[in-house]
Amino acid sequence: MRSVQTTVVVKNGPDQAFTFEEVDLDGPRADEVLVRVVATGLCHTDLTVPTMLPPEMFPNVFGHEGAGVVEAVGSDVSGIAPGDHVLMSLRSCRSCPSCAAGHVGYCESSLLLNYMGMRMDGSTAYSRGGAPVLGSFFGQSSFSQHAIAYADNCVVVDASLDLTRLAPYGCGFMAGAGSVLNVLDLGPADSLVVYGVGAVGLAAVAAAAGAGVGTIVAVDVLPSRLEAAGQYGAVGVDPSALGDTSVVDAVKEATGGGATGAVDSTSVPAVLTDAARALAPRGTLVVLGLGAPEFAVDAIDLMQNGKIVRGSVEGDSDPLEMIPRMLALTASGAFDVDRLITPYRFDEINQAVADVASGAVVKPVLVW
Ligand SMILES: NC(=O)c1ccc[n+]([C@@H]2O[C@H](COP(=O)([O-])OP(=O)(O)OC[C@H]3O[C@@H](n4cnc5c(N)ncnc54)[C@H](O)[C@@H]3O)[C@@H](O)[C@H]2O)c1
Ligand SMILES: [Zn+2]
Ligand SMILES: [Zn+2]
Repeated sequence: MRSVQTTVVVKNGPDQAFTFEEVDLDGPRADEVLVRVVATGLCHTDLTVPTMLPPEMFPNVFGHEGAGVVEAVGSDVSGIAPGDHVLMSLRSCRSCPSCAAGHVGYCESSLLLNYMGMRMDGSTAYSRGGAPVLGSFFGQSSFSQHAIAYADNCVVVDASLDLTRLAPYGCGFMAGAGSVLNVLDLGPADSLVVYGVGAVGLAAVAAAAGAGVGTIVAVDVLPSRLEAAGQYGAVGVDPSALGDTSVVDAVKEATGGGATGAVDSTSVPAVLTDAARALAPRGTLVVLGLGAPEFAVDAIDLMQNGKIVRGSVEGDSDPLEMIPRMLALTASGAFDVDRLITPYRFDEINQAVADVASGAVVKPVLVW
């Protein structure tokens, strides 16, 4: 298939606003899927990654919670056909040791497949005036009207479902739900403390509420976010409203001695240090946030109390398995995340960025 002209939302430099441009998009290669994007969620990772890239990695197209309709598939693609409705998620090679063990988030080719801005052979799917425009972000770069994706990161969904309400299942909702359901595996006797209740943190709260976790505590600096967590039955802790009490003491009190499970989505070093301190003996902290390269951990506390501090990509989920599972949970009422979504037109993307930062909304979904 020949290349198509399409509109993308591009970043021309690390600190630049999102702008719209017309570009050429290659037709799908043998292993590729051409998707007409209907909606894409905005995840904090779309905002953080550009600030971490060198100037030579621009112009670049981000967006990694895409949902759309398949327009064409390459000759080697099976299981996906034109007309299918798909959600796009992270890529993996599906053959390295981690992938073979089902842990696709830790694929040995993950960086190349999701973050390098190009295909494995160094080519880019997008170009303007013959010059390359970087993309291939999470194998989709779905801040675009059309995206090139792959069978390993596309999940076919029921065509009767509204794609605008499904886009965030490809990353933000999956990272939160997977942390609780796959990594921590909590039950009624447990407590979960979520540090940072934006889209990822609230998805963790929603999954925990659905799983009947005994005590859920939300820590955030934005009152609107604590209120949203409270709607799932979570106890809110606002660090600025504690007076002489520390966050660690407030969390220990709310959980009856410490969290058996905790999730951090703030990536603020001091918050991570407190989160490890406020674990119960043998409790586990899951580090999800992207940003802080380092934080301090009390090694004696860690050793004496058998605590675990570990990271996770997408809550250790395989999107091909986890997305259908989350959709079934939502349908049964056990993963109530639809209320977190606010649709925006794609041309309102810079407003959506401002609104998520202020706490006015939780999960913007951009719609063409
Ligand atoms: N590991 C993964 O697979 C994965 C997947 C998706 C997102 N992420 C990362 O998770 C993080 C959260 O993403 P999001 O889209 O939910 O972002 P978000 O901006 O919606 O949420 C972050 C929340 O943290 C709160 N916060 C900030 N500083 C705080 C502090 N000092 N104390 C308490 N709360 C504080 C904010 O008020 C906000 O509610 C980002 O770093 C993102 O890159 C990781
Ligand atoms: Zn792999
Ligand atoms: Zn994301």
